[in-house]
Amino acid sequence: MTPELMNQGAERLEKHKLKQETAVNSGGRAASFSRIHQPGELDLVHGRILYLEDVNVSFDGFKAINHLSLDIGVGELRCIIGPNGAGKTTMMDIITGKTRPDSGQVFFGSTINLLRHNEPEIAQMGIGRKFQKPTVFEQLSVFENLELALKTAKGVGASMRFALNGEQKDRLMEVLQTIHLQNDVLRQAGNLSHGQKQWLEIGMLLMQDPKLLLLDEPVAGMTDQETERTAELFLSLKGKHSLMVVEHDMAFIRQIADVVTVLCDGAVLAQGSFDDVQANERVIEVYLGR
Ligand SMILES: Nc1ncnc2c1ncn2[C@@H]1O[C@H](COP(=O)(O)OP(=O)(O)O)[C@@H](O)[C@H]1O
Ligand SMILES: [Mg+2]
Repeated sequence: MTPELMNQGAERLEKHKLKQETAVNSGGRAASFSRIHQPGELDLVHGRILYLEDVNVSFDGFKAINHLSLDIGVGELRCIIGPNGAGKTTMMDIITGKTRPDSGQVFFGSTINLLRHNEPEIAQMGIGRKFQKPTVFEQLSVFENLELALKTAKGVGASMRFALNGEQKDRLMEVLQTIHLQNDVLRQAGNLSHGQKQWLEIGMLLMQDPKLLLLDEPVAGMTDQETERTAELFLSLKGKHSLMVVEHDMAFIRQIADVVTVLCDGAVLAQGSFDDVQANERVIEVYLGR
């Protein structure tokens, strides 16, 4: 997608708004317009959920992100690989509002300019991020961790009066099954295995029903069996959510990959199927050292 398309999206939004006003003025028939987008609402009409164009970031003169352009389709499971220092984590920092780029464009759907929002706003809009280290509440049970994730999302804070409604309970049960922890509901999170803690944290993100999930090295430190289960988990999330997965574990990537993007020196070096990327000479050169 190009900036032109983005501009067209913005223009369309303006037109819709005009139409909407006209409709209201002419007898409240706004409901007959099926696709009116409110400002700030996610617009996926172009089939792309995330769009980065010519993004640049320097740290003390060092170009960590160098004319990076990349986009992710709705419901896609995109794998990102690349050597250490390629800029993978920095790219996630930019998407989530943690780092401001020096230049470039970052859009969520066709109309939401992420560079105009801060970290909490971006999380609230439906971009969930999983850092490398699990950050669950060790003293709380699996159930309480998931419950807390929902409270935080609703901005309820630590209020004791918060009780899950039926729909939220259903959601919690569904998430427990998705992350394979239905038999560990009452266990203290601190007693879970490393892999289970990672799944619980993914579950906490899922409680907030993110549109886009960013996962940074999710299987690092997992056993082979845990890695296998995580691959199944991600494949089950694809379609319902869009995912961007950064990982070094090639067996894992091979198992889940559709499109693989190779980052190097802050830009896209190659992109394609796992086999294409693996056979790419520039990619081989980067991984084997020049
Ligand atoms: N806050 C920062 N300040 C200075 N340099 C940084 C900062 N964040 C990242 N870098 C540098 O930017 C480059 C890319 O880092 P990073 O995005 O963590 O790479 P990756 O996740 O692909 O291993 C590295 O050289 C790193 O040292
Ligand atoms: Mg990293």
